Amino acid sequence: MQQAIAILDSGVGGLTVVKEVMRQLPREKIIYFGDTARAPYGPRPADEVLKFTGQIVDFLIQFDPKVIVIACNTATAAALDEISSRVSVPVIGVIHPGARAAISATNTGRVGVIGTVGTIRSGAYTTALKQLSPYIEIVSLACPSLVPIVERGEFRSENVSLIVQESLSPMKNYNIDCLILGCTHYPFLRETIQEVMGPHVKLISSADETARETSTILYNKGKLASGDTLPIHQFYCSGDPLLFRSIARQWLGEQIRNIPVLWQVT
Ligand code: SIN
Repeated sequence: MQQAIAILDSGVGGLTVVKEVMRQLPREKIIYFGDTARAPYGPRPADEVLKFTGQIVDFLIQFDPKVIVIACNTATAAALDEISSRVSVPVIGVIHPGARAAISATNTGRVGVIGTVGTIRSGAYTTALKQLSPYIEIVSLACPSLVPIVERGEFRSENVSLIVQESLSPMKNYNIDCLILGCTHYPFLRETIQEVMGPHVKLISSADETARETSTILYNKGKLASGDTLPIHQFYCSGDPLLFRSIARQWLGEQIRNIPVLWQVT
């Protein structure tokens, strides 16, 4: 049986990473888990996010994946180190790839980071960015209102514009030239975020860089999929499967055919 890339998130946000993995690695089978019943993770204490992430990894590890991608910034900040030391397969988070992409995109060295309360409170982006470039100036902002609108499947409306405008207004006072979308849900709102920040601010999503890192790790381990048959992906979620599929269809198109399997991890 073809070994898969396991990808997890608190909900639908990790689909932004799934899309990029599908684009860069079309032969790879993906098993995705979105914990939609317990999203958002952002306002939860770090030890609870660690517990939930551990439960999902225990579920995914039964499929014998070749790599696990924590496609959730909040979970990466709270659980990456602990999960990596617990399992024998490589575990990839989204924070270092996002930080790397920002460092190569910025010209002025003034970088903004938006994320959930949990991600911003953890300081994980500041640490990752400063490790790469000590002189970088970082402006961080928690935007707790954005994940719930994406989980409802609302990506583009007057209401979305208002919420995004209100959430990002403090960021507009700083002269940043790139903004890290430090939550995998935010690329769903990319157009509105770009309108609010203006065309001179580059938006950085960690999805491309995370997919690239996955590809490098699999290549180095001699584990890239080969062969001509297209993989059949599997999707699991803990909340409403029809809502999940409708959001996934809008984002991934025909790549998701079946209704995801409802699975409660505890
Ligand atoms: C959340 O569940 O609050 C957001 C997930 C993320 O941080 O990427």
